[in-house]
Amino acid sequence: LQALAARIRPDFRIGAAVALGPLASDADYGRVLVGNFGAITPENAMKAQNLSPQQGTYTFEEADAILAVAESKGMAVHGHTIAFTEAMPRWMQELPAGTEAERSVSAQALLDYVTAVVTHFRGRLDSLDVVNEPFDVDQGTGLQQNIWYRVFGPAYPAVVSQAVYAADPQVKQYINENGADVPGRRQDALLKLALDTNAVGGHIYGVGLQAHVYNLETDAIPAGELTKTLRNFKDAGLHVRISENDVADDDGTDVQAEQYATVLATCLRSSACVSYTTWGVDNRYDWLIDDDGSLQQGHDYLFENGKPTPPYDAMRKA
Ligand code: XIL
Repeated sequence: LQALAARIRPDFRIGAAVALGPLASDADYGRVLVGNFGAITPENAMKAQNLSPQQGTYTFEEADAILAVAESKGMAVHGHTIAFTEAMPRWMQELPAGTEAERSVSAQALLDYVTAVVTHFRGRLDSLDVVNEPFDVDQGTGLQQNIWYRVFGPAYPAVVSQAVYAADPQVKQYINENGADVPGRRQDALLKLALDTNAVGGHIYGVGLQAHVYNLETDAIPAGELTKTLRNFKDAGLHVRISENDVADDDGTDVQAEQYATVLATCLRSSACVSYTTWGVDNRYDWLIDDDGSLQQGHDYLFENGKPTPPYDAMRKA
């Protein structure tokens, strides 16, 4: 896939979210990953809860092992993620923020975390989600009032962005969000947040559009709407990555395959869109299937037990 895409745009990257478990244990997984993708996003290994389970202590081993594979194969790495409500260790969630004195101590703890992590990975990341899923869940447009917000206030993305820049001025900084893939209030809010962040000293290069499609009837992403979307961000001077595309396995594999192909083809043909990443590799490892094997809602990824699926074939044609 990466080679086909590069024929259309030499600098374009096709990526996948990657976990160390299957990478270390499943030869098929490694083979199709290296054979088809030019970039990776560590699926969970660079989230704060995994990088710093205790305050002041860092566990970089898993992320380093994933990056070592990517580096040995010349794959670009997208870091995911610094400030993310859902993936913080307890100590971070529970930092005190009631008084000004508490906020100042907690601010230092959060900045120390950012500096330690970004310094550790400096020079190895092409891009990084400095803020992930800033908005209220259920498609809201207000900022989630997480610890970053409580300590630094509503302009916290700019504070995080500046700390990232100080530790690694080269890494391209993104704000990543779901539900902003088609024009509408949520997209307007994301665009405004990126611009507001830069207006107060942030270094946001672009936005990540997750493009998770949970229901093809209610939240499909049509080519025309995505094209408009990419134009909206481009007109505002922002780049776009399709950061986590996957399509729920509802019923019709054709419709599903078409949806994958539409998102990739539209991104590939817009100069505003710098890369496309799918949130998984093989149906064997589906993030919406519980560990006990019970199904919340499965996906069709591009591979099943190492064999191409209809979405893969559709994407090759795209
Ligand atoms: C998901 C992972 O894929 C799962 O393994 C984990 O249990 C929960 O997080 N949006 C994001 C990703 O930005 O970080 C999420 O990843 C999927 C939704």
